[in-house]
Amino acid sequence: MLYVDEQICMRELSLHILDALENSLEAGATVVDLIIEEDTAADQLAITIQDNGRGMNKTQLDRVFDPFFTTRSTRHVGLGIPLFKAAAERCGGSLTVVSQPGEGTILRVTFEHSHIDRAPLGDVRGTLLAFILAEACDVHYVHRVDGREFEFDTTDIRTELGDAPLTHPMVRKWLQEFIAEGEQNLRRQSQ
Ligand SMILES: Nc1ncnc2c1ncn2[C@@H]1O[C@H](COP(=O)(O)OP(=O)(O)OP(=O)(O)O)[C@@H](O)[C@H]1O
Ligand SMILES: [Mg+2]
Repeated sequence: MLYVDEQICMRELSLHILDALENSLEAGATVVDLIIEEDTAADQLAITIQDNGRGMNKTQLDRVFDPFFTTRSTRHVGLGIPLFKAAAERCGGSLTVVSQPGEGTILRVTFEHSHIDRAPLGDVRGTLLAFILAEACDVHYVHRVDGREFEFDTTDIRTELGDAPLTHPMVRKWLQEFIAEGEQNLRRQSQ
């Protein structure tokens, strides 16, 4: 018997985000938007992951919160979305999925920002880098904290780079520093 409870819940929201990004990739997405919005006045943290993958039909969508539903063939449980939903609901938030076959999927997850059980965002930079460097998908990333914003789009970065791949050591180093600085500035200014 599988229990979706805090014993197996993740300690960093970035791990849930990575799982959702992997779902998008598995659904054949070529572009994913990841939007993180922190509004401390409204005491809300909202994470939106939108992809242009194959989407889900009504039957798949109805079953998506069921831990025993997966289209994976390697194993027979799919825990990513049920765990993310449990984490949100434990913190006064919710998880909703909007999806249409052929039109992609929007996952929106909210949390009470200051809720005592809310896991920290964690290593968003590492998550983003791992995903971007896999070069399977373009990423549009937006992180807003109380009106301030850090944003980039790998489509624009690749255009700037011309022939150089994102995985080139120099580019990789630049990306690491660029994301680290963008994230740090958000935090620094919000204090
Ligand atoms: N973005 C998406 N686009 C299309 N289908 C999706 C998407 N996200 C989830 N699904 C469908 O919902 C199922 C359940 O997803 P979930 O993340 O809960 O489990 P999983 O990815 O199958 O396994 P796990 O996350 O435990 O590795 C997936 O197998 C897939 O069929
Ligand atoms: Mg998953």
